[in-house]
Amino acid sequence: MVRSSITGLLGALLLASAIRAENITSDAHFYGESPPVYPSPEATGTGPWAIAYGKARTFVASLTAEEKVNLTAGITADSGCAGSIPAIPRVGFPGLCVTDAGNGVRGTDFVNAWSSGLHVGASWNKRLARQRAIHLGYEYRQKGVNVALGPVVGPIGRVAEGGRNWEGFSADPYQSGVLVYETVEGIQSTGVGACTKHFIANEQETNRNPETDDQGEYVESLSSNIDDRTMHELYLWPFQDAVLAGSASIMCSYQRINNSYGCQNSKVLNGLLKEELGFQGYVMTDWYAQHGGIASANAGLDMAMPHSDFWNSNLTDAIANGTMEASRLDDMATRIIATWYHLGQDTYFPDPGLGMPKDVDAEHQRVIATSPASKDTLLQSAIEGHVLVKNTDGALPLKSPRLVSVFGYDAKGPDALQFNTISFQSSYPAIQRNHTLWVGGGSGENSPAYVDAPIDALQRQAYEDGSSILWNFDSIDPQLDSTSDVCLVFINSYATESQDRPGLTDQYSDTLVTNVANKCKNTVVVLHNAGIRLVDAWVEHENVTAVIFAHLPGQDTGRAVVDLLYGRANPSGRLPYTVARQAEDYGSLLHPAQREGDYWLFPQSNFSEGVLIDYRAFDAQNITPRYEFGYGLSYTTFDYSDLQTRRSNVSTTAYPPNATIEQGGNPHLWDEILTVSARVSNTGVVDGDEVPQLYLGIPNGPVRQLRGFDKVRIVAGESTPVAFPLTRRDLSVWDVDAQQWHLQEGEYKVYLGSSSRDLPLSGTFSI
Ligand SMILES: *[C@@H]1O[C@H](CO)[C@@H](O)[C@H](O)[C@H]1NC(C)=O
Ligand SMILES: *[C@@H]1O[C@H](CO)[C@@H](O)[C@H](O)[C@H]1NC(C)=O
Ligand SMILES: *[C@@H]1O[C@H](CO)[C@@H](O)[C@H](O)[C@H]1NC(C)=O
Ligand SMILES: *[C@@H]1O[C@H](CO)[C@@H](O)[C@H](O)[C@H]1NC(C)=O
Ligand SMILES: *[C@@H]1O[C@H](CO)[C@@H](O)[C@H](O)[C@H]1NC(C)=O
Ligand SMILES: *[C@@H]1O[C@H](CO)[C@@H](O)[C@H](O)[C@H]1NC(C)=O
Ligand SMILES: *[C@@H]1O[C@H](CO)[C@@H](O)[C@H](O)[C@H]1NC(C)=O
Ligand SMILES: *[C@@H]1O[C@H](CO)[C@@H](O)[C@H](O)[C@H]1NC(C)=O
Ligand SMILES: *[C@@H]1O[C@H](CO)[C@@H](O)[C@H](O)[C@H]1NC(C)=O
Ligand SMILES: *[C@@H]1O[C@H](CO)[C@@H](O)[C@H](O)[C@H]1NC(C)=O
Repeated sequence: MVRSSITGLLGALLLASAIRAENITSDAHFYGESPPVYPSPEATGTGPWAIAYGKARTFVASLTAEEKVNLTAGITADSGCAGSIPAIPRVGFPGLCVTDAGNGVRGTDFVNAWSSGLHVGASWNKRLARQRAIHLGYEYRQKGVNVALGPVVGPIGRVAEGGRNWEGFSADPYQSGVLVYETVEGIQSTGVGACTKHFIANEQETNRNPETDDQGEYVESLSSNIDDRTMHELYLWPFQDAVLAGSASIMCSYQRINNSYGCQNSKVLNGLLKEELGFQGYVMTDWYAQHGGIASANAGLDMAMPHSDFWNSNLTDAIANGTMEASRLDDMATRIIATWYHLGQDTYFPDPGLGMPKDVDAEHQRVIATSPASKDTLLQSAIEGHVLVKNTDGALPLKSPRLVSVFGYDAKGPDALQFNTISFQSSYPAIQRNHTLWVGGGSGENSPAYVDAPIDALQRQAYEDGSSILWNFDSIDPQLDSTSDVCLVFINSYATESQDRPGLTDQYSDTLVTNVANKCKNTVVVLHNAGIRLVDAWVEHENVTAVIFAHLPGQDTGRAVVDLLYGRANPSGRLPYTVARQAEDYGSLLHPAQREGDYWLFPQSNFSEGVLIDYRAFDAQNITPRYEFGYGLSYTTFDYSDLQTRRSNVSTTAYPPNATIEQGGNPHLWDEILTVSARVSNTGVVDGDEVPQLYLGIPNGPVRQLRGFDKVRIVAGESTPVAFPLTRRDLSVWDVDAQQWHLQEGEYKVYLGSSSRDLPLSGTFSI
C-alpha cells in the first residue's frame, strides 16, 4: 500500500494548517492533538507480577540487542498461528504463538465453537463467563497458543450497525467490565495469556484502516474524537477491569484517537494504560496497525504484528543515535518475557503452534483440544444467552406438539464444514442465507467440532417424543399443513469484521415471518442475531406468539434452543443492548461515521454524545424502546422486596487516598463504600434464574447507570437475598481538572429490578 500520495499528503497538510489550534482535527501529520505523554512508563513489576519481573529482568539482561529486538515483532512461521515471535534457542526461549480469538480457537481442528461475546453478555452470568473462559483457555493451551487474541470490550457498541459489536459483551461499560474480568482471569488460570482488545474507541469498521481510495488519494483511518470524561466513564472502564484482572496483553486498535493512530498514541498507551491503569503486560498491535517507527515505540507500543515494517534493526540504530532510550527496548522485552514467566509458560507449555496447522491441507499432528469436561459449560453457555422477549399466553414452553412445522434458512446446518481460514467479504448480505448462524464473521469466527443445527435437534426431539416434523428452508412463502401445532421460523442477522452492518432489519426475513404468521396462528420466531435486530415489522402480529433473540450460541446452538422451546431449560438471558421500535431512534449512533467535507482525507467521528449511548441515550431523550436494555422473560415470574443500603466504614474523601499504582490503577478505587441489598422471590410455578439489576442515578451523570447485577436460581415459591457491593469507582465521576475519580457529595438514586425500565424498588442514599 502506498503510504501517501503527494496530493493526499499536501492537501491534508494544507487543510491541517488552515484549521490549527482549537480544532482537534488538526495536527501536523495527524498525530499531535492527543496530548504528548512521554517517556513511556517502565513496568514496575508490582503486586502479583513481582516474581515474574524479577526473573524477566535477569533474563532480558542476558540477551543481546538483536535478541531483544526479535521479541518485539512477529515473523512468518511454519504454523497456523496468527502471529509468531521467534525462538531464541541460545537461552532456551521457545518463542510465542498468538492466535484468534475470543469465541473459540480459529483455524484448526479438534476445538469447540463457543458462544460469542454478545451471547455471554446476554447470559449475564459471571460464574458461567468464568467457566467458559477456563474451558476456552484449556483449548488454547492444548494447541500451544501462548496468547489468545481476545476478549473484546472495544467496540462496546456505540454504533448500532457496528460490524463487530457481537464480539464484545454489552453496550454497558460496567457489565462489560465485570464479564471481561471473569474472562481474563478464567483464560489465564490455564496458563494462556489474554489479549484484551481493541484499545481504544474502535467503534466502527468503516474507515478503520488507512487506504488509497479509488481516486488514488490516501485516506487516513477514522479518528474517534473523545473527551476525557467520556473516555474514562465509558470506553476505558472495561479495559481497566481487564488490567485489574491481569490481562497479559492489550491490543491497540486500527483507528485514530484524537487524530493519533491507536498504536502510536502516547496519551492512550503511555498515559492512560501504562501510567494511570498501571498495566504490567505488553501492548500488541492489531494486524498491520503499526504506522510509525520509533515514534510508536516511544508512544508505548511493545510488539508489532504480524511483523514490523519499521522496527527491526532501526530500533538499535535509534538507540545509537539517541532517538530512543535503551531502557525502552529493555522495557518492551521485559514486559513480554514477564508475562511468559507470570503465566508459568517457562515451566511446562506445549511447543508454540503445536496444534495450529498452517492450512487445511497441511500435514499436521493431531492435537485434540476438546474435552468431555467442557460439554456442560458449552451447552449451558449456549442456553443462557437466549433472550425470550415475547410469550403470549404461555405459548412457550411447547406442550407436546404433535406436528411441528419448521421454516427459514437459519434452521439448517452448513452444506460443508472445514476449519475456516479467515475470509473478509468485500460486500456481504444482511443475513447468512446458507445456514444457521452460530458465530459472526472475520477473525472472531470460530472452528466448530460439529454444528448441532436447530433442525438436527428438532429431529432428535421428534424421534424421542414420536411427533412429526415438516420443513421448508428455502421458500419465502412456504406451504403449510394447517393442522400444525406450532410453526417455528428461524431467521438471522449477520455481521462480520471489516464492515459495518447494512441495517438492523432485512426485507427477506421480515417477509418470511409475516408470510408464515399470516397462515399459522402459533408462530414462534427464533432470531440468531449478531447485534441489534429490530422486530417491529411483525412482532405485534397476532399470530406471532413467541420471539427469542438467540444471538450466537456456538456449536450447541440447536440443542440449546430445543431445550428452551420444550421447557427443559427456562430462559434466563437478558438483552445487553437496547432494541428500538424504529432505526431512527438511535439517532446519530445508528450509522457509522462517513468521510465528508473538509475531512475527506482524514475522516472524523466526534463522540459528542459523551457517555449517552444505548439505554443512557434512550433514557436521556425519553424514547420508549421496543425492548429495553436488561429485558428478558422467563417461564416463571419474580417479585422484589426489602431494599436496603448499608454503608461500610471506608472513608468517603472526595478523591481516592494516594497509593502506589497497582495493576488496575489506584487500589482505593476498589474500596467498597456501600452495599445495596434486597430479596427476590420466584412467584411462579417453575424454578428459574432471575437477573436482578441495580442502576444508580449518580449526581451529574446519566439518568441511570448499571452498577450491579447477579444471576440467581430460585426454586418456585421461594426467595433469595441479593447484595451488590459498590466500590469507590462505581460511585464516582471522572474529574477532568483533578485527573481523578471524584466521589461527589450529594444524593444518589438507587433502582433495583429486572431490566433498565422495570425497576420495582427505588430509594436514595447520600454521600
Ligand atoms: C475549526 O476550523 C475551522 C476551519 O478553519 C474554523 O472555521 C473553526 O473556527 C475552527 N474551530 C472550531 C472549534 O471549529
Ligand atoms: C482528546 O481530546 C479531548 C479534547 O481536547 C481531550 O479531553 C482528551 O483528553 C483527548 N484524549 C486523548 C486520548 O487524546
Ligand atoms: C532474529 O530473528 C531472525 C528472523 O527469525 C533470525 O534470522 C535471527 O537469527 C534472529 N536473531 C537472533 C540473535 O536470534
Ligand atoms: C527502518 O525504518 C524505515 C523508515 O520507517 C523503513 O523504511 C525500513 O524498512 C526500516 N528498516 C527495517 C529493517 O525495518
Ligand atoms: C535515528 O535512527 C532512526 C532509526 O534508523 C531513524 O528513524 C532516525 O531518523 C535517526 N535519527 C537521527 C537523528 O539520525
Ligand atoms: C451463501 O449464499 C449466498 C446466496 O445467498 C451466496 O451468494 C454466497 O456465495 C454463499 N456463501 C458461501 C460462503 O457459500
Ligand atoms: C392468523 O392465523 C390464522 C390461521 O390459523 C389466519 O386465519 C389469520 O388470518 C391469521 N391472522 C392474521 C392477522 O394474519
Ligand atoms: C467535530 O468537531 C470539530 C471540532 O469541534 C468540528 O470542527 C467538526 O465540524 C465536527 N465534525 C462533525 C462531523 O461534527
Ligand atoms: C472496618 O470494618 C472492617 C470489617 O468490616 C474491620 O475489619 C475494620 O477494622 C474496620 N475499620 C475501621 C477503621 O473501623
Ligand atoms: C496526593 O498526591 C497528589 C499528587 O501527587 C498531591 O498533590 C497530594 O498532596 C497528595 N495527597 C496526599 C494526601 O498525600
